[in-house]
Amino acid sequence: MTTQDQVQIERLIRISKQKPLFPETFIPWDLEEAEEHLLLPDSLVSLSGHPVYQTLSKAQKRELARREVVQAMYAYAWSEGLFCFFMNRYILHRLPDDLERRFLLREVQEESRHQEMFAATIEKLGRRPVPVNRFHRIVASLTVKFFPADLAFMSCLAVEMMADRYGDQLQHTPGTYPVLQKVAQLHNIEEARHILFTKALLKTYTERAGFWRSTLYSLVVLLNMRFFQSTYVRTDIYRAVGIDHPNRVRRQAFADYQARFASECLGTIRELVHSFNGFNALTRPLWRRILKVEP
Ligand SMILES: [Fe+2]
Ligand SMILES: [Fe+2]
Repeated sequence: MTTQDQVQIERLIRISKQKPLFPETFIPWDLEEAEEHLLLPDSLVSLSGHPVYQTLSKAQKRELARREVVQAMYAYAWSEGLFCFFMNRYILHRLPDDLERRFLLREVQEESRHQEMFAATIEKLGRRPVPVNRFHRIVASLTVKFFPADLAFMSCLAVEMMADRYGDQLQHTPGTYPVLQKVAQLHNIEEARHILFTKALLKTYTERAGFWRSTLYSLVVLLNMRFFQSTYVRTDIYRAVGIDHPNRVRRQAFADYQARFASECLGTIRELVHSFNGFNALTRPLWRRILKVEP
């Protein structure tokens, strides 16, 4: 890490201490949801664009948006819990004055507050999320327990950057329920610092990454994106909304959702992968095929 990076991280630690954002006071929790409030922009609703969406009643569309925003909040809370686990593992034996340890301790505190904030938002929206499946649980546990630090940080950076774009849309779409807008705003402010830190930390690895290492990083980012998309788009949600043949609809809707997600939420991810030359003859076809992203 360069001296310039170190100065920047000291600055990030200072901001975190001097300007902490507490969900308890930052979010207008008492503001009740009204009929005219939007719960999720159409561009982020998995089915918008699918012919079935046009056949849904207004109430069903709202129910779908409600359940999908709950699902996204749950997916972030879950992934942040995993990341806290990894951060504690990473800093466990470092000395108290170690720069990375000091920053990551701030990050653990912020991520813990975010998890509480997401849980409170879910409660406010009044629906239970669909739990991640066994495959998700096993892969995630193996990652945080055994992955080398650079790969685990790369996974987390990818998810943070994706969450950042998603939150950005939630925050800036006019008419969105103000509780959701403020949740997204708080999260975006703090995640921006985490992203800066993680990018600086990963520079040490990505700068000297050759072809195979860049390929590996590219695959880690790709699989994380794909992994997270499958935690959002769930058959159980379609069933709960009262959609016929939910399995079939999910299969059809997923590819379309991926294409929309790629254009709405993956711009910065594409830049990240470009920055470490992660698009090459091996990975390009996979990005096109698995994520519907044009590298
Ligand atoms: Fe967070
Ligand atoms: Fe974060």
